[in-house]
Amino acid sequence: MRILVVNGPNLARLGSREPEIYGTATLADIEATLRARLATGVDMSFEQSDDEATLVGFMHTAVDERTPVILNPAAFTHYSYSLRDACAMVTEAGLPLIEVHLSNPHAREEFRHHSVISGVATGVIAGFGAESYSLALDHMMTLVGRQ
Ligand code: DQA
Repeated sequence: MRILVVNGPNLARLGSREPEIYGTATLADIEATLRARLATGVDMSFEQSDDEATLVGFMHTAVDERTPVILNPAAFTHYSYSLRDACAMVTEAGLPLIEVHLSNPHAREEFRHHSVISGVATGVIAGFGAESYSLALDHMMTLVGRQ
């Protein structure tokens, strides 16, 4: 069983990008933390792109390869209908998709209060810094373990 973790635009800059909001962990740190948590027999692909089309392509691959998804859509959360439609294909295929955010977008600027992704996600975890990813991974392993 493989879990796909996908990160959207500007997340490769974690560590130096607005550390007062996003913390000091780099994306590589987050990946290492998740790898250390993987249950036996569970593999993980960890991806990042600033490009909408590439992110849409990751969702298509998840559908084709039947891979559950943990997604931080970053700024695309708030306006990418193409990523939303691609995420809908994932959950309509019966695959779990957990939307994660380091920050709590609802406690920030108004434009961050709406997610176009949440309506087609299985669930959302936000506001716990890098721990949001760990919570999502733990729950995902529980979900896939039940299948
Ligand atoms: C984010 C929140 C988004 O509003 C923002 O555009 C990001 C990161 C988060 O993880 O808190 O890039 O998704």
